[in-house]
Amino acid sequence: MGSQPQAGYNFIKMNILLLGSGGREHAMAWKMAQSPRLTRLFVAPGNAGTAQLGTNVAIQSDDFEALGRFALEEKIDMVVVGPEDPLVKGVSDFFRAEPSLKNIPIIGPSAKGARLEGSKEFAKEFMQRHGIPTARYFTVVKENLAEGQAYLETMKAPYVLKADGLAAGKGVLIIHSLEEAKSELKAMIDGKFGTASAKVVIEECLVGIELSVFVLTDGRHYKLLPEAKDYKRIGEGDTGLNTGGMGCVSPVPFASTEFLAKVEERIVKPTIAGFQQDGLDYNGFVFIGLMNQGGDPYVIEYNVRMGDPETEVVLPRLKTDLVEVLDAIAKKQLHTVNLEIDPNACVTVMLVSGGYPEAYEKGKIISGLENVQGSLLFHAGTSLQGENVVTNGGRVLAISSLGPDFPSALKKSYANAQQIHFDKMNYRSDIGFDL
Ligand code: AMP
Ligand code: GLY
Repeated sequence: MGSQPQAGYNFIKMNILLLGSGGREHAMAWKMAQSPRLTRLFVAPGNAGTAQLGTNVAIQSDDFEALGRFALEEKIDMVVVGPEDPLVKGVSDFFRAEPSLKNIPIIGPSAKGARLEGSKEFAKEFMQRHGIPTARYFTVVKENLAEGQAYLETMKAPYVLKADGLAAGKGVLIIHSLEEAKSELKAMIDGKFGTASAKVVIEECLVGIELSVFVLTDGRHYKLLPEAKDYKRIGEGDTGLNTGGMGCVSPVPFASTEFLAKVEERIVKPTIAGFQQDGLDYNGFVFIGLMNQGGDPYVIEYNVRMGDPETEVVLPRLKTDLVEVLDAIAKKQLHTVNLEIDPNACVTVMLVSGGYPEAYEKGKIISGLENVQGSLLFHAGTSLQGENVVTNGGRVLAISSLGPDFPSALKKSYANAQQIHFDKMNYRSDIGFDL
């Protein structure tokens, strides 16, 4: 796949250190491992899936000192950051500031750039400054709580309340009654989500269909990856609690060429231009959560990383060598790369631990992994315990399949789901039901 280096391209092989331990990182590792430009791959901390493709390193992705030492010892040529947490905490800035590390490229924005995900208010101000379409909003802190409550009175239900900071995907409340919205606003300011909700963004509620668009950027140039739609709720028919994602599909049937052109003109271009105008040091991925409201795109949120499970349907459709793409980002030469996208559909079905997204048990032995055929199996929350692969998270395995259409791809993922067993395993059997 994309294994021929482009003519005249500076063909250098490299050692890569990938940070993270989820399905996103297994999918990235799988894609990197196909590259003729990869020498050695290390994943910190990784999971049982990444261990089959490279070397797992027992360093947490926010232990910057240890990561720096490791990068020097193993002659790492590029660091790729999977999750948002180390970015928000400043892993890129740490490497840039350290004389011995500053020449090792990092794929992932500076802490300042990562505030696009780390602070909802920062993201809203960025969008407002750059004329990027998004819902109307008002920021509330302890000092202006009464004003915030008065603002709610001027709005129509439902009311959207968002914790400003990172709250593990739980910080957004959508509330139908005004009285409840007012009391929840106070509860958030009083610490319902800890310090993350000391500041709350009240937003107008957008009505439409959601999808996500993924942008690669070197800070100056950008390329669009295939779009995707995830299934966030735990229950069939999109019911029950929110999760990190129970499944995903790409492409998105309602994302017409016309709609995607609007996304590029109204959102992607001003976003990249905004990075430059604001002096935000940004490279890597921009994940844009969008609402299609009456045919027009509005930004719901920015994430400064790829999605999980979105990566598990996006990367299988990318034919171009990922290492080459990331190296072009590092060299600020992204415009020289041509992204080739597989026209096939890709779907993924997430196998999760019983109880997730609430309390669940870990350490359950997983069997039948060797029986999977015709799909890609990405480990999301697994670890090795002696000879066994055991569960180590809420989301355990993502089964991705390519096919000429969604039904044929889904058929493969569901057939393979039945080959795999662990105690209290759960999955949604209706991924793609609405398409
Ligand atoms: P976020 O963490 O910002 O992605 O929000 C989580 C979910 O809440 C989104 O995926 C949407 O389904 C929903 N949501 C967030 N903001 C809005 C909004 N302004 N209008 C409607 N739904 C929203
Ligand atoms: N699947 C949603 C996310 O990665 O944020």
